[in-house]
Amino acid sequence: MATMAERRPVADRLPTFPWDRLAPYKETAAQHPDGIVDLSVGTPVDPVPPRLRAALAEAADTPGYPQTYGTRALRESISGWLARRHQVQVDPDATLPTIGSKELVAWLPTLLGLGPGDTVVFPELAYPTYDVGARIAGATPVAADSLTQLGPVRPGLLWINSPANPTGRVLGLEHLRKVVSWARERGVVVASDECYLELGWEGERPLSILHPEVCGGSHEGLLAVHSLSKRSNLAGYRAGFVAGDPALVQQLLQARKHAGMMVPAPVQAAMRAALDDDEHAEEQKQRYAARRTQLRDALEKAGWQITHSEAGLYLWASHPDYDAWGSVRVLAEQGILVAPGEFYGPAGARHVRVAFTATDERVAAAVKRLAEL
Ligand SMILES: Cc1ncc(COP(=O)(O)O)c(C=O)c1O
Repeated sequence: MATMAERRPVADRLPTFPWDRLAPYKETAAQHPDGIVDLSVGTPVDPVPPRLRAALAEAADTPGYPQTYGTRALRESISGWLARRHQVQVDPDATLPTIGSKELVAWLPTLLGLGPGDTVVFPELAYPTYDVGARIAGATPVAADSLTQLGPVRPGLLWINSPANPTGRVLGLEHLRKVVSWARERGVVVASDECYLELGWEGERPLSILHPEVCGGSHEGLLAVHSLSKRSNLAGYRAGFVAGDPALVQQLLQARKHAGMMVPAPVQAAMRAALDDDEHAEEQKQRYAARRTQLRDALEKAGWQITHSEAGLYLWASHPDYDAWGSVRVLAEQGILVAPGEFYGPAGARHVRVAFTATDERVAAAVKRLAEL
């Protein structure tokens, strides 16, 4: 048994929090006379839609414990939204609310029973929490874009993320089909992080892994991970869910019940209101579309090239004269804070990720400053 001195905290297995490295640039940007334009983190800034706030408030008097499984009504709303918006037929019993999706991403390998000797695979340029989740479980994290790269390795879990953070890339129907058939041949669980599914701007409409044309109608071995943070400005409420293989969802439910991983009842009520209504999501999407167009034009005129970025909440930008940190510096000197691509993997060494989650006023300020570069 480990003594106090021998014990190795989980935190020691995890990378240093990358955002701390951006702090000096944040200070530089904050010195701009007209204030900082923070396009780094990608946190929603627009109001929580009134009807969602009302639903939360109406459910405020809930002294009892909420259900880990979520109310039946919430699971019906999840199932209804997947059918209405994404042509996915999933039984309400094969859905499960989560405390935002980051929590599930970080704990999924552990909840699936993966550990030392198991491998968790995720894209080379990726949201850092896939790697973190593998490390929390004590499994081996592997960043790989192509399945052939994996050779004989049979992962315990394969993450995909379309539309992707940070690149905005969308995986097409054929690509998704190949992933499903590769995983099925090997008995690998696929978790598809679909938190930007509704934010497609150009090209092919983003598809869920659970779409019948992708998976042939069977959800065996497949989990779709969703979030209301961006679609409905609910990042502060912590509102996400997972849906897919009924047996896997039941396994997650049983473990989460024991661990107290339950969504507060008022948040469950707000989630229902959000999922039953498309109007607020469409309005929010239009806001992001306008900001995206303005920032894209301004960056291109200032010499940055945009790659992918056909969906999601970010522009993936590179400049011929700078590496990622060079771009961060030049933009910070103009009071604009962006994230260096290397936060998402070594393949991002020349790119920056520019979020369009800033108010119209701040986006206009960024556009003006970029024109002066
Ligand atoms: C790819 C991806 N997955 C998951 C999340 C987590 O979102 P949340 O925990 O707010 O649902 C984010 C947040 O930015 C993300 O970019």
